[in-house]
Amino acid sequence: MTSARVSTAVLISGRGSNMQALVEAATDPLFPASIDLVIANRPDAEGLAFAQAHGIKTALVEHKDFADRQAFDGALLAELLAHHIEFICLAGFMRVLTPDFVACWAGRIINIHPSLLPDFKGLDTHARALAAKVSEHGCSVHHVIAGLDEGKVIMQARVPVMQDDTPATLAARVLREEHRIYPLALAEVVREMD
Ligand code: GRF
Repeated sequence: MTSARVSTAVLISGRGSNMQALVEAATDPLFPASIDLVIANRPDAEGLAFAQAHGIKTALVEHKDFADRQAFDGALLAELLAHHIEFICLAGFMRVLTPDFVACWAGRIINIHPSLLPDFKGLDTHARALAAKVSEHGCSVHHVIAGLDEGKVIMQARVPVMQDDTPATLAARVLREEHRIYPLALAEVVREMD
Protein backbone atom coordinates (compact mmCIF):
# COMPACT_ATOMS: atom_id res chain seq x y z
CA MET A 1 0.00 0.00 0.00
CA THR A 2 1.31 3.45 -0.82
CA SER A 3 0.43 6.51 1.21
CA ALA A 4 0.01 9.98 -0.27
CA ARG A 5 2.97 12.26 0.03
CA VAL A 6 2.59 15.26 2.32
CA SER A 7 1.94 18.35 0.23
CA THR A 8 4.57 20.88 1.23
CA ALA A 9 5.18 24.57 0.58
CA VAL A 10 8.60 26.19 0.87
CA LEU A 11 8.74 29.87 1.85
CA ILE A 12 11.76 31.82 0.65
CA SER A 13 13.07 35.37 0.51
CA GLY A 14 16.18 35.01 -1.64
CA ARG A 15 18.60 32.56 -3.18
CA GLY A 16 16.57 29.48 -2.31
CA SER A 17 19.38 26.93 -2.25
CA ASN A 18 17.76 25.03 0.62
CA MET A 19 14.47 25.02 -1.28
CA GLN A 20 16.41 23.59 -4.23
CA ALA A 21 17.80 20.81 -2.00
CA LEU A 22 14.27 19.96 -0.86
CA VAL A 23 12.94 19.96 -4.42
CA GLU A 24 15.77 17.69 -5.54
CA ALA A 25 15.20 15.26 -2.66
CA ALA A 26 11.49 15.15 -3.43
CA THR A 27 12.13 14.02 -7.01
CA ASP A 28 12.59 10.57 -5.43
CA PRO A 29 9.08 9.08 -5.48
CA LEU A 30 9.81 7.40 -2.16
CA PHE A 31 10.43 10.76 -0.46
CA PRO A 32 7.44 11.26 1.86
CA ALA A 33 6.77 14.91 0.99
CA SER A 34 6.12 16.59 -2.35
CA ILE A 35 7.12 20.20 -2.89
CA ASP A 36 4.00 21.66 -4.46
CA LEU A 37 4.34 25.39 -3.88
CA VAL A 38 7.09 27.95 -3.38
CA ILE A 39 6.06 31.30 -1.90
CA ALA A 40 8.34 34.33 -1.87
CA ASN A 41 7.78 37.62 -0.10
CA ARG A 42 10.04 39.48 -2.55
CA PRO A 43 9.76 39.59 -6.35
CA ASP A 44 13.56 39.45 -6.70
CA ALA A 45 13.90 36.17 -4.76
CA GLU A 46 16.27 34.24 -7.04
CA GLY A 47 14.79 30.91 -5.99
CA LEU A 48 11.53 31.63 -7.82
CA ALA A 49 13.18 31.02 -11.20
CA PHE A 50 14.46 27.60 -10.11
CA ALA A 51 11.01 26.59 -8.85
CA GLN A 52 9.30 27.75 -12.04
CA ALA A 53 11.87 25.95 -14.19
CA HIS A 54 11.05 22.77 -12.29
CA GLY A 55 7.31 23.07 -12.86
CA ILE A 56 6.52 23.99 -9.26
CA LYS A 57 3.74 26.47 -8.61
CA THR A 58 4.97 29.76 -7.22
CA ALA A 59 3.25 32.62 -5.47
CA LEU A 60 4.45 36.08 -4.61
CA VAL A 61 3.06 37.56 -1.41
CA GLU A 62 4.87 40.85 -0.93
CA HIS A 63 4.95 41.91 2.70
CA LYS A 64 5.18 45.54 1.65
CA ASP A 65 1.66 45.31 0.18
CA PHE A 66 0.13 44.72 3.61
CA ALA A 67 -0.53 47.11 6.45
CA ASP A 68 0.71 44.77 9.18
CA ARG A 69 1.95 41.28 9.95
CA GLN A 70 -1.57 39.93 10.54
CA ALA A 71 -2.69 40.99 7.09
CA PHE A 72 0.46 39.57 5.45
CA ASP A 73 0.11 36.25 7.28
CA GLY A 74 -3.58 36.14 6.31
CA ALA A 75 -2.57 36.41 2.65
CA LEU A 76 0.05 33.68 3.11
CA LEU A 77 -2.57 31.45 4.73
CA ALA A 78 -4.98 32.04 1.84
CA GLU A 79 -2.31 30.91 -0.69
CA LEU A 80 -1.47 27.84 1.39
CA LEU A 81 -5.11 26.82 1.74
CA ALA A 82 -5.87 27.50 -1.93
CA HIS A 83 -3.14 25.01 -2.83
CA HIS A 84 -4.20 22.43 -0.19
CA ILE A 85 -0.82 22.63 1.50
CA GLU A 86 -0.31 20.42 4.55
CA PHE A 87 3.22 21.31 5.66
CA ILE A 88 5.53 24.34 5.52
CA CYS A 89 9.31 24.56 5.26
CA LEU A 90 10.83 27.98 5.88
CA ALA A 91 14.07 28.28 3.92
CA GLY A 92 15.75 31.64 4.23
CA PHE A 93 12.36 33.28 4.75
CA MET A 94 13.18 36.64 6.30
CA ARG A 95 9.84 37.52 7.88
CA VAL A 96 8.77 36.86 11.45
CA LEU A 97 5.41 35.07 11.44
CA THR A 98 2.65 36.00 13.88
CA PRO A 99 1.95 33.72 16.87
CA ASP A 100 -1.55 33.05 15.45
CA PHE A 101 -0.16 31.86 12.12
CA VAL A 102 2.45 29.67 13.82
CA ALA A 103 -0.16 28.19 16.20
CA CYS A 104 -2.35 27.32 13.22
CA TRP A 105 0.53 25.26 11.74
CA ALA A 106 1.87 23.81 15.00
CA GLY A 107 3.84 20.62 14.30
CA ARG A 108 3.57 21.29 10.56
CA ILE A 109 6.09 24.12 10.11
CA ILE A 110 9.87 23.81 10.29
CA ASN A 111 12.87 26.06 9.62
CA ILE A 112 16.57 25.75 8.95
CA HIS A 113 18.90 27.99 10.92
CA PRO A 114 22.65 28.37 10.32
CA SER A 115 23.92 27.69 13.85
CA LEU A 116 23.97 24.97 16.45
CA LEU A 117 20.88 26.12 18.34
CA PRO A 118 20.43 27.26 21.04
CA ASP A 119 23.68 29.10 20.18
CA PHE A 120 23.53 32.12 17.89
CA LYS A 121 19.83 32.66 17.35
CA GLY A 122 19.02 35.51 14.95
CA LEU A 123 21.14 37.00 12.16
CA ASP A 124 24.86 37.06 11.25
CA THR A 125 25.46 33.70 12.87
CA HIS A 126 28.75 32.96 11.10
CA ALA A 127 30.42 36.26 12.02
CA ARG A 128 29.20 35.87 15.60
CA ALA A 129 30.51 32.30 15.79
CA LEU A 130 33.94 33.47 14.58
CA ALA A 131 33.94 36.36 17.06
CA ALA A 132 33.13 33.92 19.86
CA LYS A 133 36.07 31.71 18.73
CA VAL A 134 34.04 28.52 18.83
CA SER A 135 35.78 25.44 17.45
CA GLU A 136 32.60 24.00 15.96
CA HIS A 137 29.65 25.58 14.21
CA GLY A 138 26.81 24.16 12.16
CA CYS A 139 23.12 24.23 11.36
CA SER A 140 19.84 23.15 12.91
CA VAL A 141 16.45 22.18 11.54
CA HIS A 142 13.82 23.03 14.14
CA HIS A 143 10.10 23.26 14.67
CA VAL A 144 8.79 26.80 14.38
CA ILE A 145 7.10 28.31 17.43
CA ALA A 146 6.30 31.92 18.25
CA GLY A 147 9.73 32.59 19.80
CA LEU A 148 12.32 33.25 17.10
CA ASP A 149 14.62 30.22 16.53
CA GLU A 150 13.31 28.66 19.74
CA GLY A 151 11.35 25.60 18.58
CA LYS A 152 12.46 22.06 19.34
CA VAL A 153 15.49 20.98 17.33
CA ILE A 154 14.85 18.10 14.92
CA MET A 155 18.33 17.61 13.45
CA GLN A 156 21.74 19.29 13.57
CA ALA A 157 25.00 19.01 11.65
CA ARG A 158 28.38 20.18 12.90
CA VAL A 159 31.34 21.54 10.98
CA PRO A 160 34.81 22.49 12.22
CA VAL A 161 35.79 26.16 12.35
CA MET A 162 39.17 26.68 10.64
CA GLN A 163 41.71 29.23 11.81
CA ASP A 164 41.61 31.21 8.58
CA ASP A 165 37.81 31.12 8.19
CA THR A 166 35.91 34.22 7.16
CA PRO A 167 32.15 34.44 7.60
CA ALA A 168 31.86 33.53 3.91
CA THR A 169 34.04 30.40 4.03
CA LEU A 170 32.34 29.22 7.20
CA ALA A 171 28.90 29.92 5.73
CA ALA A 172 29.76 27.84 2.65
CA ARG A 173 30.85 24.88 4.82
CA VAL A 174 27.67 25.13 6.89
CA LEU A 175 25.46 25.52 3.80
CA ARG A 176 26.64 22.18 2.38
CA GLU A 177 25.40 20.57 5.60
CA GLU A 178 22.11 22.53 5.46
CA HIS A 179 21.42 21.05 2.04
CA ARG A 180 22.19 17.56 3.36
CA ILE A 181 20.10 17.63 6.54
CA TYR A 182 17.05 19.69 5.57
CA PRO A 183 15.58 16.94 3.35
CA LEU A 184 16.43 14.32 5.99
CA ALA A 185 14.70 16.32 8.71
CA LEU A 186 11.63 17.02 6.57
CA ALA A 187 11.31 13.31 5.77
CA GLU A 188 11.67 12.42 9.45
CA VAL A 189 9.00 14.86 10.59
CA VAL A 190 6.39 14.01 7.97
CA ARG A 191 6.91 10.25 8.51
CA GLU A 192 6.19 10.79 12.20
CA MET A 193 2.97 12.66 11.32
CA ASP A 194 1.39 9.51 9.81
C1 GRF B 1 20.51 29.68 4.97
O1 GRF B 1 21.79 29.78 5.52
C2 GRF B 1 19.48 29.38 6.03
O2 GRF B 1 19.96 28.57 7.04
C3 GRF B 1 19.19 30.76 6.57
O3 GRF B 1 19.21 31.61 5.45
C4 GRF B 1 20.03 31.03 4.43
C5 GRF B 1 19.16 30.88 3.23
O4 GRF B 1 19.87 30.40 2.12
N1 GRF B 1 17.95 30.75 7.30
P1 GRF B 1 19.09 29.85 0.88
O5 GRF B 1 18.09 30.93 0.46
O6 GRF B 1 18.39 28.58 1.27
O7 GRF B 1 20.12 29.62 -0.18
